[in-house]
Amino acid sequence: MSSTLLRGRTLSFLRWPETIDDQAAWRYEEDGGLLLRDGRIVAAGAYSDVERLAGEATEKIDHRPHLLLPGFIDAHVHVPQMQVIASYGAELLDWLNTYTFPEEAKFADAQHGRRIARLFLDEMVRHGTTTVAAYCSVHRASVESFFAESHDRDMLNIAGKVMMDRNAPEGVLDTPQSGYDDTKALIKEWHGKGRQRYAITPRFAITSSPEQLEMAGALCREHPDLHMQTHLSENHAEIALTQDLYPWSRDYTDIYEHYGLLGKKSLFGHCIHLSEREADALSQSGSVAVFCPTSNLFLGSGLFDYQRYRRRDKPLRIATATDVGGGTNYSMLRTMDEGYKVIALNGEKLNPFQSFWQITRGNAEALSVQERVGTLEEGTDADIVVLDARATPAMRLRMETVTTLAQELFLLQTLGDDRTVREVYVAGRAAKTDIAS
Ligand code: GUN
Ligand code: ZN
Repeated sequence: MSSTLLRGRTLSFLRWPETIDDQAAWRYEEDGGLLLRDGRIVAAGAYSDVERLAGEATEKIDHRPHLLLPGFIDAHVHVPQMQVIASYGAELLDWLNTYTFPEEAKFADAQHGRRIARLFLDEMVRHGTTTVAAYCSVHRASVESFFAESHDRDMLNIAGKVMMDRNAPEGVLDTPQSGYDDTKALIKEWHGKGRQRYAITPRFAITSSPEQLEMAGALCREHPDLHMQTHLSENHAEIALTQDLYPWSRDYTDIYEHYGLLGKKSLFGHCIHLSEREADALSQSGSVAVFCPTSNLFLGSGLFDYQRYRRRDKPLRIATATDVGGGTNYSMLRTMDEGYKVIALNGEKLNPFQSFWQITRGNAEALSVQERVGTLEEGTDADIVVLDARATPAMRLRMETVTTLAQELFLLQTLGDDRTVREVYVAGRAAKTDIAS
């Protein structure tokens, strides 16, 4: 049985850090060790303790002085939008019609889907992200390519075929029946295969007819253990059009509520302009609001009020995400840097421990995968990122004046990107090195 012993400064969260001094919220080892075997972390702690448990044949890798954290988790991202990112000058609905739908139509070609799935997961790993909740295109083959590629790399990923049957070009439409049938077939083939998990994925209320949302609700009832992901309350024009399409609804959230789409495994991208009633409905059902700061800024959608949602009487479960290609960067570090600024514009701050909690354990809890990923706890999967706070000349210079872990984390968030990620372990294997070679 081959095993690997990693040495470095280990940091993993136990719960939300209330303040910057809330040391009981995390576990930090200045000289830490992680023993990996069969894709799992079998021992974690002080290096001297963990080393004693390592057998003769254990490969030892010394990452000092770098930090070892759980791999990052991106809770909302679009695989077929790698060639949409950086499209100029539009707000959400025009951006979808002008750039996104034509690009997604190209995924009718399975070969294109395979190429992009490979490049997408390369890019995720290069940026330190080891788990995503992903939207594929409307085409069944795009999901098959994604899961095949993810399974080959032994990654824990959540993904689904977008269901959309109206208000878009013919090349990206399904029907309520074909959307249902394809989803069923994909669940059967991929959900639970290795580390793969399926998400029922109606794109949003504008591109799904009432009949299709009905079918999506049926799928959720038939598969209560599956995730459901969609978009909600991103932009004012979107909200107004949604209201026109579902005139009986009290508000946008009410539509998804009506079709039985709220729940603990339901992920709602954006949630920027929610009323108190809508926030209550999400909170009571345990649904997750996904904060996508780079996308919300880029498309001019609005400022997600993270701290208000957290602190209200009925708090929301919150995840964070890149939302590439509305989002402008693959990195969860860049995402949290922009997130910090959005929260600052709302008159609040997110401290660096809270940020790193969010993109590791916080997102794992929001996706209900914390038993497997998002921490460095023994028995969990060995998805690990190695971060170098001196990766660039500017970072090296700034590090000369850094004296605390909090300052170092904030520097990583503010100046870090893919260059900061020295190595990534996926199920115990060095995955970033694999891509580079
Ligand atoms: N709403 C419906 N589809 C999309 C999408 O692809 N990106 C974003 N940002 N919002 C959406
Ligand atoms: Zn999205």
